[in-house]
Amino acid sequence: MSTTPPPGTIGVGLISVGWMGRLHSRAYNALPLIYPELGITPRLVQAADTAQAGRDYAENVLGYKSTTADYHEVLANPEVDVVSICAPNFLHAEVGIAAAKAGKPFWIEKPVGRSGTETAVVEAAAVEAGVATCIGFNYRHVPAVELAKKLILDGQLGRITNVRGRFFGGFSSNPEDPLAWRFVRSLSGSGVLGDLMGHLVDLMHYVLGPISAVTASTGTYLTERPALPGSATTGLAPVENEDYANMLIRFHDSAVAAGALGSLEASRIAVGASSDYGFEINGTEGSVRWNFARMNELHVALTRTGPFVGFTTVLANSAFPEFARFQPSSGTGMGYDDLKTIEAKKFLLAVTGGPAESSNIHDAVASANVLDAAEESATSGAWVSLPVVAGSTAAFAK
Ligand SMILES: NC(=O)c1ccc[n+]([C@@H]2O[C@H](COP(=O)([O-])OP(=O)(O)OC[C@H]3O[C@@H](n4cnc5c(N)ncnc54)[C@H](O)[C@@H]3O)[C@@H](O)[C@H]2O)c1
Repeated sequence: MSTTPPPGTIGVGLISVGWMGRLHSRAYNALPLIYPELGITPRLVQAADTAQAGRDYAENVLGYKSTTADYHEVLANPEVDVVSICAPNFLHAEVGIAAAKAGKPFWIEKPVGRSGTETAVVEAAAVEAGVATCIGFNYRHVPAVELAKKLILDGQLGRITNVRGRFFGGFSSNPEDPLAWRFVRSLSGSGVLGDLMGHLVDLMHYVLGPISAVTASTGTYLTERPALPGSATTGLAPVENEDYANMLIRFHDSAVAAGALGSLEASRIAVGASSDYGFEINGTEGSVRWNFARMNELHVALTRTGPFVGFTTVLANSAFPEFARFQPSSGTGMGYDDLKTIEAKKFLLAVTGGPAESSNIHDAVASANVLDAAEESATSGAWVSLPVVAGSTAAFAK
């Protein structure tokens, strides 16, 4: 079993120094500045990356004490108390299991596994080792999302009747872009389901409660891409996972949104879309709308009579959860990096025995199970039922 280090200086190990690895590191560095009262000071100890450029960046820019090409060295380093796992998808399960076996609490990027089954193996390893976990479900921490959740839990929207969510990106819309790991099933697992829909499913669980059943359709439209330079194949190679997915959802009776219906969509080839990620939730007494493109706004409708019928746009302000930590007043917006600082805080609170605010490995299993069910339904055309995952932080009815 792992031991719980007290607040104080916490040694950080990083696996992979790409976009997410750099962002986790900036979040650790920001934490004592944003949350000084916690008395937690992360110390960047060792970073692993197979690319020399990543190792150089970790040492010279981020300030890690040492670097290595072999992530096992990070896990074996006695100065490393916690680990950030920011590798490509195909390494997540392997590294997560190894971190658990080494007794290191870990903050891991999504998707944790390439399937629900693989994610459950990581879950079993973390539970057996008794290590704290945190998943890169960063959109949970948006103050406007937290406020929407609070309005729903307080009953201000009445009974939730339906939700519509989408996550559209255009980052894979160019058919000339090469066949990177994201398009290869053995390396990535599913396509846009694991990449984008997993975030949306987690947000549904977090705000509305556990999903009980799905029926889904998927499509692959850019079916071939140029093989990566240096790979065994030349010319065009097949894309092995889906570009687009949609699903209809229902919620468990134990969910805050029990009885509600919903539809979710995700695309990685939507020309013109840049993280067009949002939801609209309707209840018998009110509605909320949010979109990441305008992260600091919440659109709220809380009356059906009088002059203020319709949606009001509220700019995030100090009454929104966490906002005042970052900005003094509305109109000055928080950014994406701030979400990771909040995530780092929640992770290290979980590690040091503080309040349980963090997502955890059970949330990763819950999201992965829904994505597996969507794939199954896309083949069979049937509704697929899902169990409630024990230990998840989904929004359950009181
Ligand atoms: N939470 C989010 O919103 C979010 C956003 C983007 C990416 N992600 C996830 O984060 C993960 C990383 O994505 P990224 O965009 O940072 O990728 P990236 O391509 O920027 O970086 C990946 C890094 O991994 C390194 N690497 C490859 N093999 C390695 C090995 N064996 N050992 C150590 N390092 C190795 C590469 O050299 C590279 O530096 C992915 O799983 C992705 O799904 C999450």
